[in-house]
Amino acid sequence: MNHILVTGGAGFIGSNFVRHMLKKYPHLKITNLDALTYAGNLDNLKDIEKDPRYRFVQGDICDEKIVAEAMDGCDAVVNFAAETHVDRSIHAGDLFVMTNVKGVYVLCEEARRRKVQRFLHISTDEVYGSRLEGYFKETDPLSPSSPYSSAKAGGELLARSYFVTYDLPVLITRSSNNFGPFQYPEKLVPLFVTNLIENKSVPVYGDGKQVRDWLFVEDQCEGLDLVLHKGELGEIYNCGSHNEEFNIDVTMAILKLLGKGTDLITYVQDRPGHDRRYAVDTDKFKLGWVKKHNFQQGLEKTVKWYVENEQWWRAIKQKQADYKAWMDKHYKPLEAK
Ligand code: NAD
Ligand code: DAU
Repeated sequence: MNHILVTGGAGFIGSNFVRHMLKKYPHLKITNLDALTYAGNLDNLKDIEKDPRYRFVQGDICDEKIVAEAMDGCDAVVNFAAETHVDRSIHAGDLFVMTNVKGVYVLCEEARRRKVQRFLHISTDEVYGSRLEGYFKETDPLSPSSPYSSAKAGGELLARSYFVTYDLPVLITRSSNNFGPFQYPEKLVPLFVTNLIENKSVPVYGDGKQVRDWLFVEDQCEGLDLVLHKGELGEIYNCGSHNEEFNIDVTMAILKLLGKGTDLITYVQDRPGHDRRYAVDTDKFKLGWVKKHNFQQGLEKTVKWYVENEQWWRAIKQKQADYKAWMDKHYKPLEAK
C-alpha cells in the first residue's frame, strides 16, 4: 500500500487515523476527501497539513466526479465519511441515507473501476441493535434501531456485496463507542467534559443505565491499521475494548476527574428507541491487536486533552451558539416580530 484515500479524515476518528498512519509509515501518501460538514474540521489536522505526503480534497463522497479525482493514484480506500450522530438522525434522517448508503455506493463503484488493493469500510456495533446479555458475533443478524444505524447497515451490506459480486477487496469493521481527542462536542464524553469545564449541567438521558463499550481512539486506529494490512478480504471484524460502563458511571468518572459535583447532573427525557446495551465479541479482531488503554487511562488522557485545548472546542461551541442565535432571531413566530 502506497497511497490511501481516507474519506472523512477531517472528523474525529479519521483525523486520528491520518495522523497515526503518516507517523507509522514514512513512505505512505494520504489523500483526505472530506465534505467539511459541521463535524469536519481542518484544525484537527493542523500539525500535519504541510506534510508533503498529505493532500486534502474538499468534496462529497456522493459526488462521482470528485470521488474519481480524489481516488486517482490511490491503491487503498478507508471510508470513515458518514453522518454519525444518532440524535441528529432521529431529528432528520435524509442526509444519513445519502452519505451512509449512496456515498458508499459511489466509493465502491470508483474503487471497482480502479481495482484498488484494499477497501476498508468503517461500520458500527450499532448495526446489531441492543442486547442485555452476552456478545454479538460477526455472524449474528443485523437489527439496527435508529435511522443512523440502519443507514450504516445499508452501507456495509452494499460494500460487502461488492466483494461477493465484483471481488472488490472489501474489509469491514464494526466498532464500539470511540472516545478521545478531537471528538466533536455533541457526543457524550466531549459534551460532558466541555460542559463541566464551563460549569454547565450535563444531560443524562433516561435513567443513565445504558451500557456502551468504550474504545480509546488511539487503540482504535492501531486496530484499524491491523485490519487494513492483515484482515482477510471479504471479512467483517468487530472492534471493541471490553470497557463496558453505564452512562451514569461514565458521567461520575468525568465529574471526579474535573472535581465537579453531582448537582451538575440533569436527568432528561430518554432518546427515542434508545439501545440499552451494545456489546461485541472481539475474538476475531485480535490479529495481534492489544489495547493499550483501559477506560480510566483513556478517560484521563481525554479529559486532559480537552482541558489543554480549550480554543479547539470553544471555537466549535461558539459556532453552535451563533447558529442558534441567528435561527432564534430570524425564525421568531410571526406575531412576536
Ligand atoms: P465524525 O462525525 O467525527 O466525522 C465524520 C466526517 O465525515 C466529518 O469530517 C465530515 O465532514 C465527513 N463527512 C460527512 N459526510 C460526508 C460526505 N458526504 N462526504 C465527505 N465527507 C463527509 O465521525 P467519527 O465519529 O469520526 O466516525 C467516523 C466513522 O466511524 C463513521 O463512519 C462512523 O459511523 C464510524 N464509527 C464511529 C464510532 C464512534 O464512536 N465515533 C464508532 C463506530 C463507528
Ligand atoms: O456504538 C458506536 C456508536 O457510538 C457510533 O456508531 C456512533 O457514530 C457514535 O455516535 C456512538 O453512538 P452513541 O449513540 O452510543 O453515542 P453518544 O455519544 O451519542 O451517546 C452515548 C450514550 O450516552 C448513549 O446511551 C446516549 C447517552 N447520552 C448521549 C448524549 C449526547 C446521554 O445520556 N446524554 C447526551 O447528551
